[in-house]
Amino acid sequence: MIPGDAEIHEPLMSAAFELARRGIGRVAPNPPVGAILINDELQVAEGWHAEYGGPHAEAACLAAARSAGIETRGSTMIVTLEPCGHEGKTPPCSQAIIDAGVGRVIYSHPDPHPVTRGRGLQQLEAAGVEVIGGVLEAEGARLLAPYLCHTQRGRPLVTAKWAMTLDGRIASATGDSKWITSEETRRWTRERRGHHGAILVGIGTVEADDPQLTSRTEGMKDPLRVVIDPGARISADRQLLHDSGDVLLVVQEGKTVPDFLPEKVEVLEVPAHRKSGSASQIDIDDLLRKLGDRGIQSLLVEGGAVTIGHFFDAGKVDRCEVLIAPKVIGGAKAPGPVAGRGLEMMTLAIEALDPRWTDLGPDRLLEASLSLAGRGRYNR
Ligand SMILES: NC(=O)c1ccc[n+]([C@@H]2O[C@H](COP(=O)([O-])OP(=O)(O)OC[C@H]3O[C@@H](n4cnc5c(N)ncnc54)[C@H](OP(=O)(O)O)[C@@H]3O)[C@@H](O)[C@H]2O)c1
Repeated sequence: MIPGDAEIHEPLMSAAFELARRGIGRVAPNPPVGAILINDELQVAEGWHAEYGGPHAEAACLAAARSAGIETRGSTMIVTLEPCGHEGKTPPCSQAIIDAGVGRVIYSHPDPHPVTRGRGLQQLEAAGVEVIGGVLEAEGARLLAPYLCHTQRGRPLVTAKWAMTLDGRIASATGDSKWITSEETRRWTRERRGHHGAILVGIGTVEADDPQLTSRTEGMKDPLRVVIDPGARISADRQLLHDSGDVLLVVQEGKTVPDFLPEKVEVLEVPAHRKSGSASQIDIDDLLRKLGDRGIQSLLVEGGAVTIGHFFDAGKVDRCEVLIAPKVIGGAKAPGPVAGRGLEMMTLAIEALDPRWTDLGPDRLLEASLSLAGRGRYNR
């Protein structure tokens, strides 16, 4: 068996995370999972969960080992999630691992799903398989974040995304925003859309930009497009009403919708509340619960500022993806990315945790989790 220390486990687990990422956008509502098998001769097989309903990572890894003639008896399997122990669309992975004679299973993150939690581990241990958990668990949690959020909180993980100039504008004072970032960045943005179960904008963006909100990337599915349009004021000529993709129009409860809406457009009624001195606001918690009930695990909120502001005010932004273009546009009336009520004091500011910066052509991308819990009015 391979040595039992972190120096060996962690690089293999990192490689398994890379394999798992291949399934993002393809396997929901299942989580993305990667697995690597290594035996005494240091022969290696790999597998990942490639599509919903298809073999799990462990089964794919064992199949790869068998077809390459790699001995699995006494081997070690490194897997990003606790192996399942229940019969679902595919047989339990724990049994496949036991049948293959694997001697040791090393996993990163436990599976909180009530159907499977702990079952596979018990079966493995009862069969004499050594089990080690928690290897690079924080990274495992990042990979699984949408699945964990949906399983534990019943709502999708919310990522707010915006593109802005160096001086923090997401459009000019006249509302023009085509384009802030480079073609390369916009290609990245379209691909990322395919990682999410749904993408959401406000009616202001639909009216100003007439966006398609599709992925247009080989092999990626288009997310459900959600438009918050409390007054059902959408124009008949908007592109997303006439293409083949799905649209969910979120209107205030009791609102009459226009006759011209095509049949494919589903209307979701959500209660609205009137805050002092402002227009009625769609209840973000209620909306997220309803999206969660539909199995949506990750929601990309693409704007504009009013919509993103409502999500921040509701304390429901888990992550951000910020694209910064090396340009200046100025203008006192040119919007920034987050409207809403905002916070009164710098001491209450939401912090970007674990920030990661990437160059995208001439632009820069910041990805971070947000410290909403425990801060001012966001403390819920
Ligand atoms: N650079 C970027 O990343 C980016 C991204 C998107 C948009 N933009 C730009 O942003 C501008 C549009 O932004 P915007 O802020 O005016 O529009 P928006 O946020 O797209 O839409 C705002 C409208 O959506 C409705 N709405 C959204 N959330 C709501 C809630 N919780 N409750 C009730 N109503 C809600 C309201 O409609 P009613 O008015 O009917 O009540 C509100 O006025 C455009 O210039 C666009 O080009 C830039």
